[in-house]
Amino acid sequence: MANLTAKKNLDELIGQAQNTHEGGLKRSLGAVNLILLGIGAIIGAGIFVLTGEVASQYAGPAITLSFVVAAFACACAGLCYAELASMIPIAGSVYTYSYATLGEFFAWIIGWDLIIEYLFAASTVSVGWSGYIVSFLKGLGVTIPPILTSAPIAYDDALGFHATGALINLPAVFIVAVVTTILVVGVQESARFNNIIVAIKTTVILMFLAAGVSYVNTGNWVPFIPENKGTLDNGLWAFITSSDFGHFGYSGIFRGAAVIFFAYIGFDAVSTAAQEAKNPQRDLPIGILGSLVVCTILYIAVGLVLTGIVPYPKLAVPDPIAVGIDATGLTWLSPFIKLGAIAGLSSVILVMLLGQPRIFYTMANDGLLPPAFSKIHPKFKTPYISTIITGGVAMLLAAVFPIGILSKLVSLGTLLAFAMVCLAVIILRRTNPKTERPFKTPASPYIPAAGIVACLGCMAFVNSFAWMLLAGWMVLGIAVYFLYGAKHSKVQQKIR
Ligand code: ALA
Repeated sequence: MANLTAKKNLDELIGQAQNTHEGGLKRSLGAVNLILLGIGAIIGAGIFVLTGEVASQYAGPAITLSFVVAAFACACAGLCYAELASMIPIAGSVYTYSYATLGEFFAWIIGWDLIIEYLFAASTVSVGWSGYIVSFLKGLGVTIPPILTSAPIAYDDALGFHATGALINLPAVFIVAVVTTILVVGVQESARFNNIIVAIKTTVILMFLAAGVSYVNTGNWVPFIPENKGTLDNGLWAFITSSDFGHFGYSGIFRGAAVIFFAYIGFDAVSTAAQEAKNPQRDLPIGILGSLVVCTILYIAVGLVLTGIVPYPKLAVPDPIAVGIDATGLTWLSPFIKLGAIAGLSSVILVMLLGQPRIFYTMANDGLLPPAFSKIHPKFKTPYISTIITGGVAMLLAAVFPIGILSKLVSLGTLLAFAMVCLAVIILRRTNPKTERPFKTPASPYIPAAGIVACLGCMAFVNSFAWMLLAGWMVLGIAVYFLYGAKHSKVQQKIR
C-alpha cells in the first residue's frame, strides 16, 4: 500500500541543491539573467492577445482593475515562491516544496498540475504566436489558407465542443518545433537568445505606450466599469449561473482577473532554473520579484492606454495591441509591434519549454516518472529526452486547440498551484522553523493566507468548462500515480 504522505527530508534536499556533481545541470545563470528569464516567461500572449478578450467581453476599461487584482494574487504567491526557492534551491519548483511539506501524493498532484502551467501554456502561447505571424505575413501580402492556421476544435456555450472545419494550426506547431530544438542544444545558448528577445518585446511595449499616450481619449474610459446587464431579482445563485455573470460590472472585473491572470504566469519559471543559478539564495528572490514588479507596471499602463485609444467593444480581435496602434493613425508602427509580439511570444514559449523538462527531470529522479525523463545529454548537459517529449505533446495540443480553451485551463491550473505554494509556506514555518530562510515572506501567515484566498477567489470566476477539463486532467494524473509512481517512488522504497 502506498504511503501517500511520505515526505522528502528537507535537509537532504538542501544538501542536494548545494551539490552540483559531475553529469548534473550546468550553473550558468546570474541575477540579471534570472530577471530576464522571468520577464521572458511573463510578457506574452496575456498582454498581446488576451487583453482584447478581457476588455471587450468582461471588464471594459476596468481591465486595469483586473490587472491589479491578478497582480495582488501573484505578488502574494511570488513572495512565497521567493521564500521557498531561496530555501530549497532545487529544480522542480513547487513540486519539490510540497514533497517536503505535504507529502508525496500532494507533490505528485502539484507536479501534474504544473504540466498545465508549463506545457499547456507553451501550447497556448504558440497559438497566439500563430495569430500574430499570420497577421504579419498578411500585411506583407502572403496569405496562408485559414484551414492550415486555426484549430480544428472549438468550444462555445451553445454548441459545446465542435469541429471548425480547419485541419491544423501549422504555424503554432512550427514554433514549438524550433524552440524545442534550441533547448536540446543547451541553456547557455537559450539564455542568450532569451535576453535579446526580452529587450525587443519590452521596447515594443514602451513604444506602444509612448506613441499611444497622446492619443488617449478619456471619453473611452467612461463608464470605467461598464454596467452588468444581470439582475439579482431571482437571487444570487440565479445570477451566478446566468450568462450575464462575469460580463462587466464587478463580477466582470473578477472574471477578467482570472483570465488575464495568464499574463502574469511565468515569474515562477525562475525557480525551476534553481540548479542552473550561480547564487540561488540571493538571486532567485531577485529574479522572481523583480520580473513581477516590472511586468505589473507595464501591464497597468498598457491597459489604460489601450482602452483609452480604442473603445473597448472594438477590442475583440486576436492582435489588440496592433489594433491600438492602427487606431492612432501611426500605421507604420504596426509591423514593428507585430514583430515585437512575435519575438515576445517566442521567448515565453522558450521559458515554458525550459521549465517543464526540469520538473519532469526532478520527478523522474524521485522515481515518480520513468528514468528516461531524467537522462542528461552527455555533451549538451540538457534533459534532452524530457525536452523532446514536452515539445512533442505541446505541438499536438497547439495543433488542435484554440487559445480560448487552452488559456482558461492554464489560468485555472496555475491558480491552484499558486494557492498550494502559499499553503506550503505556512506549513513549513511550523514544521521546520529553524531551517535557514535567506528570503522570508513578510507578514506571514497573513500574506500567504491572502494569497490562498486571492487565488481560490479568482478560480471561482473561471467558466465551468475549464473546471471540467481540470478535473479530467487530475483524474488522469491520479491514475498515473497509482499505476506507476507509487510503485517506483524512491522515498517509498526507503521507507519499506
Ligand atoms: N504570462 C505568459 C503570457 O502571457 C504565459 O504569455
